This record gives sequence, C-alpha cells and structure tokens, in this order.
Amino acid sequence: MIGRADAVAVLRHAGFVAAEEDAADLLAAAGDDMELEALLARRLAGEPTAWIVGHVDFLGIPVRVRPGVYVARWKSEQVARHAVSHLPVTGIAVDLCTGSGALAAFLRHARPRARVVATDIDAAAVACALDNGIEAHLGDLFEPLPPALRARVDVVVAVPPYVPDDMLALLPRDVARREPAHALAGGLGGLDVVERVVAAAGGWLRPGGALVVEAGIDQMDRVAGRMEDHGLVVDRVVEDGDGDPCGVCATTA
Ligand SMILES: C[S@@+](CC[C@H](N)C(=O)[O-])C[C@H]1O[C@@H](n2cnc3c(N)ncnc32)[C@H](O)[C@@H]1O
Repeated sequence: MIGRADAVAVLRHAGFVAAEEDAADLLAAAGDDMELEALLARRLAGEPTAWIVGHVDFLGIPVRVRPGVYVARWKSEQVARHAVSHLPVTGIAVDLCTGSGALAAFLRHARPRARVVATDIDAAAVACALDNGIEAHLGDLFEPLPPALRARVDVVVAVPPYVPDDMLALLPRDVARREPAHALAGGLGGLDVVERVVAAAGGWLRPGGALVVEAGIDQMDRVAGRMEDHGLVVDRVVEDGDGDPCGVCATTA
C-alpha cells in the first residue's frame, strides 16, 4: 500500500521540485493503490502531472488538458489578469496561441458576457480548448478569426512560443522532451512568432484596444521596441507573481 507521504518521498527523491503538489494531484486522481502506482510511474517517467490527471488549475479554474498540449504556467496568470483589465463587460477578446484555452477560459470566467475567440495552429490544442468550452479556431495566429472582428477587438492576448532555439536544450527535461516544440520554439532570437503577432495586431484592435504579449524576462525591451515600430503605444511591462517581468502591454493610438 502506498500513501501520500510515500508518494511525496518517491517524487522528491527523484528530484521533482513540486513533489507535494504532484503527489496530492495524483492521489486525488487515483481510484486505488494500484492506480496510484501506475500514475506515479508515469510521473516518474517525466509525463506532466496535468496530462496524467487531465486538468490544471489556472487562476482557480480547472482547465482540461489533453496529453500533448502545452500546460498553462503560473507566470501566465498575471498576463491573463492584465488582459481582463482591458476587456469591457460585453467586449471582444482574442486569445492567440491558446493551447488548452486556459487564458481564454479565465477571460470568459471574468467577463461572462464578453465574446472570447481563440486560435491555435495545433489541432490537439484546438480540440482541448473546445473541451474547455472556448470558441477556438485552427490556424496561424489571426488567420482563422472571423473577418467581422477586424478593428473591433478590445484586447488581444498571446502566450506565443518565445524560447530562442539555442535555449531549448536548456529547458527542464520534462518540458523539452514532452511538450511540443511548436509550443516553445521561437526561432533564432526567440521572437519570430511574437513579431508576427505584434505586426498584425493593429489591424484587429479597435482604437484604444490593447495587445498583451507574454515573453521571456530578457525580451521585454525588444518586444516593446517592436510594438512601437508598429505604431502601438507601450503601456506597461506586466510582472508575474514574483515581480519579474513576464509580458508587455501596448495599446493602439
Ligand atoms: C507557450 S504555448 C501557450 C499556450 C496557452 N496560451 C497557455 O498559456 O497555456 C504556445 C501555443 O502556441 C501555439 N502556436 C505556435 N505557433 C502558432 C501559430 N503560428 N499560430 C497559432 N498558434 C501557434 C502552440 O501550438 C501552443 O499551443
């Protein structure tokens, strides 16, 4: 028989930094000891806990996660919160690169009467976002959005891939080996997708609308610079729960 304390000890011994949380999630998902052992084995093999238990908590909302789909991170919570601050009660939001639809789900939760539309290039991600009740479309960035949304969107939020190619090998083993490269890899300097988001956002935002983009801690100046190059007015750098820069917000003139 294996209990919570054993599961924590096994995970900790294997070097899992969130052993307590992982063990609690696995225990809650397991029907009996045999199942717990099986789930534990999958975690020890490096599978993300969210894929094993089928959901992740994002700002208090349980978000369903299919295996193979990027697991929403804690640092993106402040990006989502900031996006909500630019979304009127009956406004329109677009969540680009939505993955499981975690940010879109939070926007809908916070503004139930707003329209929230999401896109992702990965069919598994779109299916997962649909599982979460999100109006999600398959395709490249803005391309699959209904054309009627042009110049009407209050806020565009994006957590695009932004890891520079030469940094991919340095990511924690679970992430680099399990999560899909197209969810992480941002090209040579990391900003290939971010730059395309910034370049096209102005055509979809209403006057005074906001673009909120997550990026790496050392990418803020470059992202802000691109935003200014495209005529956006940089409003602020968004900070994560630890006070570290995690995104940039800009508005149209
Ligand atoms: C870092 S993950 C973020 C997912 C989600 N926003 C979250 O925070 O949980 C990046 C996502 O962008 C998607 N993606 C990558 N390139 C894309 C593109 N050109 N157009 C739309 N989605 C893209 C990936 O499939 C992946 O789901």
